[in-house]
Amino acid sequence: MYLKKLKIGEVKLENNILLAPMAGITNLPFRLICEKYNPGLVYTEMVSSKGLFYKDEKTNLLLNTENEKRPVAVQIFGNDIEAMAYSAKKISKIADIIDINMGCPAPKIVKNGDGSKLMLDLKLAGDIIEAVVQNSTVPVTIKMRKGWDEQHVVVVELAKIAQEKGAKAITIHGRTREQFYTGVADWEIIKKVKKEVNIPVIR
Ligand SMILES: Cc1cc2nc3c(=O)[nH]c(=O)nc-3n(C[C@H](O)[C@H](O)[C@H](O)COP(=O)(O)O)c2cc1C
Repeated sequence: MYLKKLKIGEVKLENNILLAPMAGITNLPFRLICEKYNPGLVYTEMVSSKGLFYKDEKTNLLLNTENEKRPVAVQIFGNDIEAMAYSAKKISKIADIIDINMGCPAPKIVKNGDGSKLMLDLKLAGDIIEAVVQNSTVPVTIKMRKGWDEQHVVVVELAKIAQEKGAKAITIHGRTREQFYTGVADWEIIKKVKKEVNIPVIR
């Protein structure tokens, strides 16, 4: 009843059950194990755009999709437009979808202005989305949270910006950065976003 096909840009997914991106978990061996459950789409762990830009060997290993069932989405993070644009060009050659991480709450990520910290700078977030879309030949999607904290619930605004800049889907983690992974996710705000955009909203 809930299973249906999903289209993200021109990429057709067999179903709408997706393997969420998880740092330290959704590496290639884990994704291969998950193939028997037939996910409609799998995501890599988040990959540093700066690492790709500076040709870091360990970062490049995260892009390995050898012998993997398609489609595969590669998730990137960063706030440097040049590095994100470079990464978009590079990943376009190997992935079916590029996902931008604007939801990671980890201190080591947000202290550099990456992940969910971008929800506090919507102009920069929009510029990054635009640069990645313009430098990508595959659909670009955005992962975001409800907001930074209850004083900064900006998901509706960011979702609209994402659509306007050319993103083909968004995924919402219905918690604020302040909540990390605790408490309950806000499903009402996801409903609200769905009413405001035409692109698929994944939760
Ligand atoms: C160990 C762990 C690592 C995660 N790493 C990422 C990540 O790299 N990128 C991302 O967008 N979300 C990441 N997430 C968030 C999940 O993709 C998901 O959005 C979140 O756990 C909310 O879903 P849930 O309520 O079903 O747990 C991570 C979550 C966990 C638990």
